[in-house]
Amino acid sequence: MSRLTDISWEDFERLGLEAKKPYLERFEGDGMPYHTLFAQQFDRALLMRLCALANRIRFINKSKEGALYLKNVLAHKRAMLYFSQPSSRTFLSHLAACQLLGITTGSVRDAATSSEFKGESREDSIRTFSSYFDMIIMRSPEQGLAEKMAWELSNSERPVPILNAGSGKDQHPTQALLDIYTLVRSFERKGGIDGRTVTFCGDLKRGRTVRSLSYLLTDFRDVKQVFVAPPELQVPDDVTAILREKGVRYEISDDLRAATRASDAVYMTRIQDEWDNAKGESARIDTSRFKFGAEELELLGPDSIIMHPLPRRDEIATCCDHDPRAMYWRQMRNGMWIRAALIASTFGFEREIMDCGY
Ligand code: NCD
Repeated sequence: MSRLTDISWEDFERLGLEAKKPYLERFEGDGMPYHTLFAQQFDRALLMRLCALANRIRFINKSKEGALYLKNVLAHKRAMLYFSQPSSRTFLSHLAACQLLGITTGSVRDAATSSEFKGESREDSIRTFSSYFDMIIMRSPEQGLAEKMAWELSNSERPVPILNAGSGKDQHPTQALLDIYTLVRSFERKGGIDGRTVTFCGDLKRGRTVRSLSYLLTDFRDVKQVFVAPPELQVPDDVTAILREKGVRYEISDDLRAATRASDAVYMTRIQDEWDNAKGESARIDTSRFKFGAEELELLGPDSIIMHPLPRRDEIATCCDHDPRAMYWRQMRNGMWIRAALIASTFGFEREIMDCGY
């Protein structure tokens, strides 16, 4: 079995994502991650297992007896939420997911209140957390930090799993899981995700949710991806390179209306101006044609859906909010269920929950 204890950080870091995958599994060949770091760890079978478990947890939680059963499943575990980058939804939905399963939580949301402020390295801080907690859920502006921490922890006296809740501009695997779960549920009785057209619109260059979801969609058959953005914010080459390699159909466009007409799902994103190199860089880009409003809603098919990872600014007009095709509110709630499924699976409780009598 490939283990993080058998490989140096330098050798591990050099591997491609596919090659890294087996090092991060709970059990050899099972696929379920121990450390969840990037979308490439999930194939279709695993996604379906997680969606089934999320549905199961959702159902069990409907009755008081079921909810109390769930609250006992991981009552012996503690999780640390370490968020050194702004977050409301991702923080709260991980917190709510932990609460559903009875996990006790602690949190650091601001490095200024932790010993990092005194000059402690992140490596030392995270090792400190692992002394008190059984899982670390982390968000960081730094690309690759979650990966480094996973290696460090696996090589420490007290290995605990890392769950990446957003790292730099590169990955947001649990957001992609909730996006897939939303697509699965939306098209459940309508033939599923295979053969669909999904349009991504907005800041595709710096939005990590797009990078993670674009990859997960390649696990489905014949899904076409359309990338609609101003040229300055178009999807980066590393994303389309994967699509070409996997023979996935995609299109680069600047016409949201045409794309909307042809799409089963339109995934809107905000301009990620926190990554601007110079002040006002994003503000100089003309984004007026990359907003979803009443006219786009008219063009959207009756069974198609609008998605957004949130937070939104003005890229989706509020007049769309009560349309039954607007899925962004449901996406948030789906996030809680699928994260609970992932956390329960990380601790090895998938089977027990699936087979329980509730
Ligand atoms: C996203 C993120 O943090 O990448 N938010 C989220 O987790 N729902 C999207 C964003 O900030 O635009």
